Amino acid sequence: MNYKVRFVDYPLHYHRLESELYAAIKEALSGGDLIMRQQLQEFESNIASFLGVDYAIGLNSGTDALYLSLISAGLGSGDEVITVAHTFVATVAVIVHSGATPILVDVGEDFNMDVEQVEGVITPSTKAIIPVHLNGRLCDMEKLMNIASKHNLIVIEDAAQALGANFDGKKAGSFGLTGCFSFYPAKILGGAGDGGIVVTNDKKLAEKISLLRDHGRQRSTGDILCYGFNSRLDNLQAAILSVKLKYLPEWIERRRELAMLYEKDLSSLPQIQTPPPPQSQGRYFDVYTNYVVRAQKRDRLVDYLKECGIEILISWPKPMHHHQALGLSHFQLPQTERISKEVLSLPMNTEISNEQVEFVIESIRNFYMK
Ligand SMILES: Cc1ncc(COP(=O)(O)O)c(C=O)c1O
Repeated sequence: MNYKVRFVDYPLHYHRLESELYAAIKEALSGGDLIMRQQLQEFESNIASFLGVDYAIGLNSGTDALYLSLISAGLGSGDEVITVAHTFVATVAVIVHSGATPILVDVGEDFNMDVEQVEGVITPSTKAIIPVHLNGRLCDMEKLMNIASKHNLIVIEDAAQALGANFDGKKAGSFGLTGCFSFYPAKILGGAGDGGIVVTNDKKLAEKISLLRDHGRQRSTGDILCYGFNSRLDNLQAAILSVKLKYLPEWIERRRELAMLYEKDLSSLPQIQTPPPPQSQGRYFDVYTNYVVRAQKRDRLVDYLKECGIEILISWPKPMHHHQALGLSHFQLPQTERISKEVLSLPMNTEISNEQVEFVIESIRNFYMK
């Protein structure tokens, strides 16, 4: 289908950065710098200073960032980990792969973990909480960190969708024992393929994750210190991501501008519930990795928008605990179930023009006036 408004416009995004990307790729390739070399180290140190943390370890994906965080923190069989069902399946999959048991709580109006529900599900087996900062907005980290410290629980942040977002002036990923990010191409900082990073202020944990990502090898001596994995971030990806990271603050501002455009015209429609608008002052600094609204007659609206040439995504039309294969059907999460019938993600990317956003808004208005 030939869309008039793409959800993410990869070709345009690439063309705008083409010469810089080529220069970075050429430098890496001509120097033979492919695995665990300077470009990776530079990118890790750039991300660490952007987030204000001590260590950043580049990985092949956000999924491995979460998984290696869990197993390095010693989580496994017999442990319970609290998280949400309204997330990408990877958040819960890694808990299961670590051998621990996922305990799912519901989300609130902003699609993030309803922190008020957390204490009600804590048992003697609870060891960790994974808050997911969905769509580029943080969970209420003050309340969550208080609960975690009161019950001596580890916090591993799933910040895959929240690079650059902050709460009370502190960046996503810098609150917990680790913060986990994804560079999947559609993310706010997207690679030319898969990638991820884990950040932490804990030196020992950083060393453990660095070993685990590279087959347990200590590069300086060649000694194998533990059984590990191949979870490394490629040098080429790191070089590409470093080029893009320079633009991230500018891209975040543009996303907030676009969110404001959507908010201005959609918030008056009774059939649409918009996400919290960007605050110039206040506790939340949202980066709008996704612009997700709740809509009446959602499925018909999505069909209509597609007919108009607007690419739409639904994350997620079926709540995770309703997928039989996952064995999570004993959870009852009414808000998660309700919003899965209502949510849709409108086009949100830094290539989109104001006119395109206005076209999306006008199309939504036309649908409800029919
Ligand atoms: C909330 C969330 N958690 C985890 C992940 C996993 O990241 P990756 O796809 O890089 O493995 C994603 C990526 O889509 C995500 O959105």
